[in-house]
Amino acid sequence: MAENIGDTMGAYYDQNLLSDITQRINILDVVADTVKLTRKGNRYWGLCPFHAEKTPSFSVTPEKNMFYCFGCHTGGNIFTYVMKRDGLDFPEAVQVLADRAGIQLKKGPLRKEADRFKRVVEVNKAAAAWYQGVLKGDPGAAKARQYLRERKLDEQTLERFQIGYAPNQWNQISDFLFARGFDQEWVKESGLIKRNKSGDSYYDLFRDRVIFPIFNYQGNIVGFGGRTLEDAVPKYLNTPETEVYLKRHHLYGLYQAREAIRKGNQAILVEGYMDCLKLHQHGIDCAVASLGTALTSEQAQLLRRYAENVTVLYDGDEAGQREALKAVQLLVEQGFNVEVLTLPEGLDPDDYLDKHGKEEFLQYIQNNRVSYIEFKVKRSIAAENILDLQGKIRIVNAVKDDINNLQSSILRDNYIKMLSRLLKIEENLILKEIEGNTGPGQPYRKNKIPANRDTIQYGNYSIEEKILASMLNDRGIAEIIAENIGIECFSSRHYNRLAAICFEMGGDSGDSPWEWQQAVEDEELQALLARINTRWDKGFRVNHAELWYFIRDVQRQRYRARWRNLHQRLEHLRTDGGFHTVLRLILDLDTFLHQTREGGIK
Ligand code: GTP
Ligand code: MN
Repeated sequence: MAENIGDTMGAYYDQNLLSDITQRINILDVVADTVKLTRKGNRYWGLCPFHAEKTPSFSVTPEKNMFYCFGCHTGGNIFTYVMKRDGLDFPEAVQVLADRAGIQLKKGPLRKEADRFKRVVEVNKAAAAWYQGVLKGDPGAAKARQYLRERKLDEQTLERFQIGYAPNQWNQISDFLFARGFDQEWVKESGLIKRNKSGDSYYDLFRDRVIFPIFNYQGNIVGFGGRTLEDAVPKYLNTPETEVYLKRHHLYGLYQAREAIRKGNQAILVEGYMDCLKLHQHGIDCAVASLGTALTSEQAQLLRRYAENVTVLYDGDEAGQREALKAVQLLVEQGFNVEVLTLPEGLDPDDYLDKHGKEEFLQYIQNNRVSYIEFKVKRSIAAENILDLQGKIRIVNAVKDDINNLQSSILRDNYIKMLSRLLKIEENLILKEIEGNTGPGQPYRKNKIPANRDTIQYGNYSIEEKILASMLNDRGIAEIIAENIGIECFSSRHYNRLAAICFEMGGDSGDSPWEWQQAVEDEELQALLARINTRWDKGFRVNHAELWYFIRDVQRQRYRARWRNLHQRLEHLRTDGGFHTVLRLILDLDTFLHQTREGGIK
């Protein structure tokens, strides 16, 4: 399964085979098939094959058999490289490389998992083609064609997204698929049919619905959405989640949009299938939709491979705006530059385009998009019933960290001015609140490292990344960290995962890079590992002073967090001061002071 490289890697191939392959083939040769590389030191540089660029930011480190692009953050090992370059799944990439290395592969149960994915995808592909055929030619589909005309979807869009129609009958797709000779097991697995109550026969999941195939980013159909033509409930029915189809991993439209997203370094995120289709139809082909659930971090990560900028364009109603705020938070965490566009009340992008057309839509975007911080402020203001002083303080606090995290003081100043204007509070008071003391005697640290920010620029890496790199290179440093602040001491989840794996492996990553790559299960972590291995040489270690600065800093932050918590509880006591609450607090305070005196908070 392409999306799950690590799982397949670890579980279904023995390590010897894979390391045999890596020993016999040099990643440089494989990359050099299509990329011109120039040597600098022990690294090779070239134009990245995974995104459009004019100056080389793609690098290969042959001694570690890894590649990493500092521009689009794609990275990994020789297998990942071939998978991405040739659009293969993991077993296919192993096959290709084994052939190249002259190694004979054993067939058999090894390939089972990959087979399952492939089989289901084959079923889906045949079904999609069938649904499409029905929509185009079947007399029974006349009303579906009529419906799609009313929704203003044109032929080209229907074709490009392979939209179809499931007739209003119970056994059409099942009859078709079985007649085509597909194994019952895989048809069942596709979710297109369901077993009836008595358990002796099957019926079609989609009946009398417009069918939207859902592609993964490589163009395999992994699931379907089906919309009712009438007002049946539910409005959309989707393929149930299976091992092959996990909807939180996919974005509707990404396959069709990915080139445009890459080129423009920009995506537009919408809520609905229809919105996405309509944007594409109007030539705005960097649009993707989140598949009807709240945006997930997996989806945000997936999108992050293609662009750094994203515009969130959700429905203009209250629910849409609430969802937008959640999506924004996730996207910011993944390191996107986020802008938000709010449509006039009641309209979704599809409605807006139908009503006003493309030109006006683009104009509207130009005039109304705002940075996510501004969006957050406006949402918080809208959420306060009366804008009293307490409310204003809540609003400032809601965006405090976002503003403090900004690297540019001009931008920070800009938002402080904005808050001052909107809240009618003097600038210097806002500034004080934002920089204000948040712990006993500790000034708030201004340029705190934002969660998971990808510091692209060379030489501008965060202390966190330096520490992580050192931990990977040197078991001794990892142990010092573990002892003083615990392994998972970073502000980024990814760093923490990698650090934890490092510790469990019990050695330096440099000793056995191959086992390492296997232990790292997800694609995102692999890219991070590749980057760290690319950026820092094997001998890199932070110096003593930096190491201890980091440890003390983490301790200080935790201390402040706990202090804040205690402080809040103290405040709370004024109104709700039951005996047990007071007692509990005193005990906690005692523990806290005790630990502080001992000098370590883990
Ligand atoms: P239209 O009403 O046809 O314009 O669709 P839409 O795409 O505008 O849908 P809407 O804004 O109501 O919902 C956004 C997305 O949420 C849809 O595209 C679906 O992915 C999902 N969705 C909406 N209704 C349902 C439902 O009843 N069940 C499920 N599973 N998903 C839904
Ligand atoms: Mn709609």
